[in-house]
Amino acid sequence: MNRLIVISHRAPDPAGLKDSGGMVVALKNAMQVHKGIWVGCAPTTREPDQPDIAQLDFFHGDAFDIAYYHLSEDEHAGFYTRYSNSVIWPAFHGRLDLIDPEGNSFATYNNVARKIAQALRPHIRPDDLIWVQDYQLIPVAGHLRALGVRNKMGFFLHIPFPARDVIMAIPHSQIMLRGFCDYDLIGFQSKRDIEKFSIALRSLLDVTPDSNNRFQRGGRTIQIGHFPISIDVEEFSRFAHQNGNHCVEGGSKGIIAVDRLDYSKGLLQRLRGFRQFLADHPEHYGQVTLTQIAQPTREHIPAYRSLKTEVEQLVSAINGQYGGVEWVPVHYVNKRVSRERVAGLLRSGKGCLVTPLADGMNLVAKEFVVAQDPADPGVLILSMFAGASEELSAALLVNPYDTGSIAAATERAISMPIEERRARHADLLKAVQSNSIGDWSRNYLAALQAQAITTAPQPVEFRPKD
Ligand code: G6P
Repeated sequence: MNRLIVISHRAPDPAGLKDSGGMVVALKNAMQVHKGIWVGCAPTTREPDQPDIAQLDFFHGDAFDIAYYHLSEDEHAGFYTRYSNSVIWPAFHGRLDLIDPEGNSFATYNNVARKIAQALRPHIRPDDLIWVQDYQLIPVAGHLRALGVRNKMGFFLHIPFPARDVIMAIPHSQIMLRGFCDYDLIGFQSKRDIEKFSIALRSLLDVTPDSNNRFQRGGRTIQIGHFPISIDVEEFSRFAHQNGNHCVEGGSKGIIAVDRLDYSKGLLQRLRGFRQFLADHPEHYGQVTLTQIAQPTREHIPAYRSLKTEVEQLVSAINGQYGGVEWVPVHYVNKRVSRERVAGLLRSGKGCLVTPLADGMNLVAKEFVVAQDPADPGVLILSMFAGASEELSAALLVNPYDTGSIAAATERAISMPIEERRARHADLLKAVQSNSIGDWSRNYLAALQAQAITTAPQPVEFRPKD
């Protein structure tokens, strides 16, 4: 079996002490099977005694090695805060208004990728499969190719791919799009993303994928595919059983929502929807509580700080208007909550609001389904703009921008007869079980394996300077 080299911005904690995000959980499986090296960013910026990014810092494990790159504060600011999370992230989630166009952050973004490629080069063996994850690291393959690496290389975008005009508005978008084409396999979460990517290729690079989503560029055949990411169904269901005593506020009629406090997740629109529900249904006062877990994230970025303030003001306004001595309608938690605990909370929800304005997949939707008691399941209310909606069509699908749609679905979830709840849940569970976490990486790596070794000339866009 080929060794696997995964490169992702977030990597596991070598001591295994910290809680991991969905992507890390998803990739651990594949790494345990294939062995190899997992390259990722050290959790804090570089201390004077740590190697700089030109040198990887290795932690040897039983199944695989973890290799950290250490960013300086300037690199972290330009690469992570600026270009990754204040240009690509808002744009890919359709928020051009939140783009921070200042500075030469693209140069830093690209340089970090170049340095990671240079640091990794000596550790690559000819048969290694190389799998790069997500928008922070798009240019890595271009730099590796420029260093003579001919290995099969795949890229997976965890976030949604945007519409053509949005791509055109991003500084350096042509170069970025060419960066995608240095891979042999480009993976997306949903069919919708493939369509949008194909349109961008046609418009911006004058390349048209064939009916099998393949295209030629620079003498190579590049495959595009959709590989919906998933969760470890057995593990999450075990967590839910073991933590079933962590009830949502409001007991059996509680509504739960769990997100990072990110503008793409539609928290403000959801809260307005819940306020509309309260306005329309006074009969539920004192009974239906929304527990909103809003995990802190990227707090040094102004757009996130403003969102936090707006969310807190809205929660307080709703609680002030509708709450009383004995009942508070929105139970807001702005803290990290462990996956185990989240599993228990999800299990006790009568309904779950997963209403992002744009989302590559959204694993909370899948976690909620798995956490339910099939005999008395809660109802999933899911945004039509989450990648998960392609698989989870038995959810109540809503337009997250439409407060009326969220309000009506909340009422429907609360009053849904048990037979309908069971039938919908059975369909949803089947969908999640038929594509569990192992399938995602297996299918992706099989598709990468099937690609031919590249013999193409080296790309010029990301060629490192001599
Ligand atoms: C999303 C992205 C990941 C990212 C994660 C957490 O899921 O797809 O690439 O790692 O959010 O964001 P953070 O900025 O903390 O890495």
